[in-house]
Amino acid sequence: MVNRRKISIIGAGHTGGTLAFILAQKELGDIVLIERQQSEGMAKRKALDILESGPIWGFDTSVHGSVNIEAIKDSDIVVMTAGIPRKSGMTREELVQTNEQIVRETALQIATYAPHSIIIVLTNPVDVMTYTAFKASGFPKERIIGQSGILDAARYRTFIAQELNVSVKDVNGFVLGGHGDTMLPLINNTHINGIPVKHLISEEKIDQIVERTRKGGAEIVALLGQGSAYYAPATAIYETIDAIFNDRKRLLPSIAYLEGEYGCSDICFGVPTIIGYQGIEKIIEVDMNNDEYQQLQHSAQAVSEVKNSLKFK
Ligand code: 2OP
Repeated sequence: MVNRRKISIIGAGHTGGTLAFILAQKELGDIVLIERQQSEGMAKRKALDILESGPIWGFDTSVHGSVNIEAIKDSDIVVMTAGIPRKSGMTREELVQTNEQIVRETALQIATYAPHSIIIVLTNPVDVMTYTAFKASGFPKERIIGQSGILDAARYRTFIAQELNVSVKDVNGFVLGGHGDTMLPLINNTHINGIPVKHLISEEKIDQIVERTRKGGAEIVALLGQGSAYYAPATAIYETIDAIFNDRKRLLPSIAYLEGEYGCSDICFGVPTIIGYQGIEKIIEVDMNNDEYQQLQHSAQAVSEVKNSLKFK
């Protein structure tokens, strides 16, 4: 019998549903969409709807919705999108209390039913929720991946491409640090097919792009009125899963548990990582100037402060 891979998505909201739809088309593995009891119907409805698009897209992916957490049994990857989203004017950090409980309980359940899986965390505040999932699951650090950096870098690259009127494919840029106002787009490492962005865009304009990137999530929240972004976040998770299942050894920004890297310890934080079959296979430390290093420390400090407000550490 063919050993099909299995991806479970906890949370059948906009992000979970969109991710399931992308993954189904890409045929990376069979999909289980889980929703809590109170939202009975949501996971089943979305799963069936996606499944019924299969004959048109031409995919054979199995997509199953359930309110029973046991359905995640033996998953290879479990994606955690569960939790409440930000409302307009609310910071990601204000979500911490409610979402800590949800992420903690879910991580314990994942450890029970899918003990060999890789967990990908998207729930906000994502740096700290990744830490909660790491501590609660007891998984080795390479199997806990928080995701925000691909999304933040995608926003940054979009704005640069718009400014220069060039293809996004040619814009290469990286964003490190906490997923919030202190994140650090690495301007000195940003280039357009090898040409440093600083040669092409004025400093003032780059500063505006950096600021817009930092506020990128809030910009969407304000436009939506309620709820937060989901197309780009779901696509970022797809890229991570593709790197894992195809053992691509991609160099992608991920939220990793740090033990001294970048001068940080006992914190989950956005850094460049190599993503392959084992999950986070390596953390890459990039050379940065003193100013960038100080900004990164400032961002780590902001994440630590939220971490200190956790109930379980
Ligand atoms: C964002 O930045 C949802 O935090 C996510 O849009």
